[in-house]
Amino acid sequence: MSDLTGVKQGTVTPYEAEIEAIDPKIFLLESSTTRNDRQSLLRLQRLVRRENDDYCYLEIGSHLGGSLLPHLADSRCGLVISIDPRPAVQPDERGPMFAYQGNSTQRMVDGLLRHLSEDNLAKLQTFDLDASAVPRAAVARAAQLALIDGEHTNVATVSDFLSIVPFLANDAIVVFHDSNLIFDAIMHIERFLHYSQIPFQTIFLPDVVAAIALRGMAEVLPSEMTDVALRRDQFIVSARRALQNVIAMDVLDRNGMGFMIPMKRMVRAAIRKRLLLGRR
Ligand SMILES: C[S@@+](CC[C@H](N)C(=O)[O-])C[C@H]1O[C@@H](n2cnc3c(N)ncnc32)[C@H](O)[C@@H]1O
Repeated sequence: MSDLTGVKQGTVTPYEAEIEAIDPKIFLLESSTTRNDRQSLLRLQRLVRRENDDYCYLEIGSHLGGSLLPHLADSRCGLVISIDPRPAVQPDERGPMFAYQGNSTQRMVDGLLRHLSEDNLAKLQTFDLDASAVPRAAVARAAQLALIDGEHTNVATVSDFLSIVPFLANDAIVVFHDSNLIFDAIMHIERFLHYSQIPFQTIFLPDVVAAIALRGMAEVLPSEMTDVALRRDQFIVSARRALQNVIAMDVLDRNGMGFMIPMKRMVRAAIRKRLLLGRR
């Protein structure tokens, strides 16, 4: 039996009530996401769980398990796949390498078990591999929802997307965190989908979450998110300017141009002024 929202009635756990209420409290573990990001991720999860009685969630880049937990806690999610090769350092579009100390699947599982039961964890399948190396036969079910949040470079993001295409259900949503860094990859993926004649819709959500809905999900995603979606062009323009600014500062730092560092504020102010003038 379903209620007016299409949600099946039955026992609703406190965790599931939080998902339905878009309550970020369910993010019990550390996650590199803002409150707005968490609400955007929950909106997408709620949409998928309302459309599917039994969905599969696939995640690239899990670190401590913060973004896995809401799916492990969701009784409508039957399988959670975590793909993370756990490198000590990883490249990033911003320039510097990013270190993840003590990063391991065991530490993630131990952390998850502090909040969830062994039963919840029984549906977790982990691969300490890059997505391109995961054997197709090792993944038993197609995923209705995927999050790409691994190496934040355009090349890795496109590679991650292409690697999981065989693991996706026909009607699926692929979500990207840190879309302010990898917006170019998202646009390359859109070109690929257009070329492949796969119907899709992309939305950008606060703060830095993007989602590409495929086929049937492309029909439902925009109407469900109209109230919260960001303006795409504005988002991409300001993300590109901010990224270029960060890269410029990094180049100054790395080239021993310390004497220019005090000028950073002036440069930032000048860029900001240019942006403001550009808006007029
Ligand atoms: C930003 S953290 C993920 C945070 C997590 N999604 C959360 O919100 O709780 C990035 C993760 O990407 C992983 N990573 C690095 N390179 C990767 C790759 N090639 N494929 C998948 N994951 C990768 C790192 O080991 C790290 O755990």
